[in-house]
Amino acid sequence: MQPTQLKPFLKWAGGKRKLLPEILKYIPKNYSCYYEPFLGDGEVLLALQPNRYVVNDLNHELINAYNAVKYNVYSLIKYLELFRNTEHEFYAVRALDCHANYSAVDSLARAARIIYLNKTCFNGLYRVNRAGKFNVGYGYRKNVDVVSPDNLTAVGEYLCIADGIITSVDFEDVLKTVIKDSFVYLDPPYDTVANNSFTAYTDCGFGKDDQIRLKLACDRLNHSGIRFLLSNADTPFIRKLYQDYKIEMVQGRRNIAGNPNSRLIVNELLIRNYDVN
Ligand SMILES: C[S@@+](CC[C@H](N)C(=O)[O-])C[C@H]1O[C@@H](n2cnc3c(N)ncnc32)[C@H](O)[C@@H]1O
Repeated sequence: MQPTQLKPFLKWAGGKRKLLPEILKYIPKNYSCYYEPFLGDGEVLLALQPNRYVVNDLNHELINAYNAVKYNVYSLIKYLELFRNTEHEFYAVRALDCHANYSAVDSLARAARIIYLNKTCFNGLYRVNRAGKFNVGYGYRKNVDVVSPDNLTAVGEYLCIADGIITSVDFEDVLKTVIKDSFVYLDPPYDTVANNSFTAYTDCGFGKDDQIRLKLACDRLNHSGIRFLLSNADTPFIRKLYQDYKIEMVQGRRNIAGNPNSRLIVNELLIRNYDVN
């Protein structure tokens, strides 16, 4: 059966839409389970639609939204239909996480809030400040489809029908559980040169020590015969770190300051430990 074409229900910094054709060239034909510890908007997961998946992201609000789509999509759609795309409503909804008892707010309401803010904010960027509070401004875009009910329902059906697990822990805790014959796609926050890269997905960032931690976890996967594909920035640090693996340089495109008319071609790396058959 031809799988339904699924689109991410959130727009995410570092999203892989433009690099997807390159990434798909390196996906092994057969694997028992698909792992993605740095999920973001799930572009690769939704393109592959594996029968068995373990996906994760340290951003708890993001994963709360995935669980709402998987287990409660019709109620989530009803919630989203209540929102109005106005500046006043945007800032009122954005301010909710500043309330002391925000964590007690119903998980469905929190999921609807994140999807609404992501769709109506500037450039669809998810960013938090050091206190972990969402701090992107209103986007002033009129024709925004906040709900997209057909795609949201289809994503919910796929996440439910497939044999899958969705978690929100550190990547190392996920990689410790990888089973034999699996395939792991790793898309961490990119290495930075002169702070030119975005890592403010969570309030703890992702520095050089985390890049080294991830590389050591890849060595353990390699040692156990587990295939991994990793994407990262083309920096001397990353090239040196993964010099023992197969490195491909590919070209991605960035919108400068959210302006789709001014694009920047950037080199990125796809790193793997297996031959493509
Ligand atoms: C480059 S983005 C992933 C983009 C994703 N591939 C997409 O297509 O949207 C990196 C993700 O890693 C998550 N992250 C940051 N630190 C993490 C950690 N220690 N463990 C797991 N996930 C982490 C961030 O929340 C962010 O969503």
